[in-house]
Amino acid sequence: MSSRQLFVTTALPYANGHFHIGHIMEYIQADIWVRAQRMLGHDVYFVGADDAHGAPIMIAAEKAGKTPQQFVADISAGRQQYLDGFHIAFDNWHSTDGPENHALAKEIFLELKAQGLISTKTIEQFFDPEKSMFLPDRFIKGECPKCAAQDQYGDSCEQCGAVYGPTELKNPRSALSGATPVLKTSEHYFFKLSDPKCLSFLQNWTQDGKLQSEVANKVREWLTPNEQGLSGLGDWDISRDAPYFGIEIPDAPGKYFYVWLDAPIGYLASLKNYFDKGGPRSRGDARSFEQYMKDEKVEQYHFIGKDITYFHTLFWPATLHFSHRKTPTNVFVHGFITVSGEKMSKSRGTGIDPLKYLSLGMNPEWMRYYIAAKLNAKVEDIDFNPEDFVARVNADLIGKFINIASRSAGFISKRFEHKMGTLSEEGLALVQHLQQSAPHIAQGFEQREFGKVLRDIMLLADRVNSYVDTHKPWELAKKAEQAAQLHQVCSACIESFRLLSLLLKPVLPELVQEVERFLKISPLAFSSAQTLLGQGHEIGVYRHLMQRVDPHLMDALFEPSPSVNTEHDDAAPPPSAGPGGTPIEGVIGMEDFSKVDLRIALITACESVTGSTKLLRLSLDVGEDQPRQVFSGIAAHYKPEDLVGKLTVMVANLAPRKMKFGVSEGMVLAASHENEKEHPGVFVLSPWPGARPGMRIR
Ligand code: 2FM
Ligand code: ZN
Repeated sequence: MSSRQLFVTTALPYANGHFHIGHIMEYIQADIWVRAQRMLGHDVYFVGADDAHGAPIMIAAEKAGKTPQQFVADISAGRQQYLDGFHIAFDNWHSTDGPENHALAKEIFLELKAQGLISTKTIEQFFDPEKSMFLPDRFIKGECPKCAAQDQYGDSCEQCGAVYGPTELKNPRSALSGATPVLKTSEHYFFKLSDPKCLSFLQNWTQDGKLQSEVANKVREWLTPNEQGLSGLGDWDISRDAPYFGIEIPDAPGKYFYVWLDAPIGYLASLKNYFDKGGPRSRGDARSFEQYMKDEKVEQYHFIGKDITYFHTLFWPATLHFSHRKTPTNVFVHGFITVSGEKMSKSRGTGIDPLKYLSLGMNPEWMRYYIAAKLNAKVEDIDFNPEDFVARVNADLIGKFINIASRSAGFISKRFEHKMGTLSEEGLALVQHLQQSAPHIAQGFEQREFGKVLRDIMLLADRVNSYVDTHKPWELAKKAEQAAQLHQVCSACIESFRLLSLLLKPVLPELVQEVERFLKISPLAFSSAQTLLGQGHEIGVYRHLMQRVDPHLMDALFEPSPSVNTEHDDAAPPPSAGPGGTPIEGVIGMEDFSKVDLRIALITACESVTGSTKLLRLSLDVGEDQPRQVFSGIAAHYKPEDLVGKLTVMVANLAPRKMKFGVSEGMVLAASHENEKEHPGVFVLSPWPGARPGMRIR
């Protein structure tokens, strides 16, 4: 079989937030697929990039007091820890603001223009007179024209679900400045997707059987002409006016490409960047980026979430086709991930923070295994359920797979000088069955039926385990005359374990690398399924390969997130220019202030709280007979020993709060930035010298 050449991408994440579990799920899905392809001997270039452009990022950067470039660079600097953490092995990570993307976007635009597919039209849009900029729909708020709900966005109503244009909103105002927007005209550039040649291309490209059936059906709806006989597909507005963070349109001063025009071009830009850095050359591919992309044998695949199907199955293939480029071989669409049935917010993600997962020392391959077990080739949402997670990892991964090695390797080492023996007829039949299953499993990976693949692998593991249970090596080991049989049984186990490891390798790359070291073998590929270790092969010393999940870790993972002194509310902070945010709370009188009893407190003891990464338990002397116990969410910022003996300020008359770890009898005061995610740091208050425990603050 000749090897295939695959160019694979995942959706480019907006560079205005860190990865949430939805991103990680997609990357794990693509990474497993890529690893399986490589194990089949295919050549894969797997790239990603930050989606840097657009009005929201420009506005977020301004709020953070940074240039958009700096803002995006700061987000980008945080990416690698997630990717390394979950063993996601992109060959390259780039940015849509890189020079390659600027050049490619312009080139592609000019090619579309030469095809007669670019038009201009003057349109009327809301303009913020204070900010001097056209407002994106999401930055206009007002009253819903249908149900009169207040505070609705310019494109749709969250109350009644109505969809409308921003100019239909009643009492519109700019979400940026609060000013009443004015209507202003501007010339926009359009990609003429309603052109018959575009329509016929897209009809064909989307309905030729490559797309998942749900996707093809959805796209058919989008393409279906409406009652007036008009195409379902209008011309696409691809320009935005300055100020905009994006790529300037050639010969159109003050006009920029709409972010969705240049974002997918970023796939090509990241690959070009990889080529220009010599990545493929170092892997024996001497072609240039252009030569590679022109090669008809190269297949191009995009993994994406269902929310961006429209862009990837209509705009993107048309953009490529009419600029004379390779169109995607396929677009693989997945659903969303919910956590215990709860939908994820795009900005806040879900209850699972991937970095917290890692920082708790949770094994990334547990997550890879669990997510893979849930995934299939359909556009279905998947649910992360904590109990199910613990059960699958412990019962299947450890109970069925790892245990095969832990029950047999020790005997091979201790009793047979680390050497493999012969197989009995039954052992050989078992091992051969595993060998014969490999092509079927490989096909399951190719088809992205990961859940089914893992179920099938676990059925194979069940067979091996029942072989172990039948032959009971631990019993055989008790009688010297059964040594030969013990050797046979354990050898069959280790051969089986090697084959199961091979089959699981796309999902568990680190673990299987460890297995390869232990078995003293070269890297496993699908072709390795045809061979066996064989009699006389020497294996290494078995060390336990994977721990079980301690269910308590799940409690720690789901413990609500950082916010000093509160155990709730991790909502995105309101927009703010400075560290304190705006505005200052409403005025209160002395009477109200005096209700808050603030005292100087001496920290007499302090310790971390088992099962919590956030909290410290403090004992505070406020001049009473007994010290107070207070829990404070400062564990990430202070070491217990550094706090003991220090004075601080506490709210002494706050109603006691019953928390998971005990009752908190007050609150320690600390300062933090309004936007703690971007500006981490928590600063406990301390009085000037001379203050003594119990003194009142007024
Ligand atoms: O929806 C999103 O998060 C976009 N940033 C995805 C872009 S994918 C590609 F087109 F760049
Ligand atoms: Zn409404």
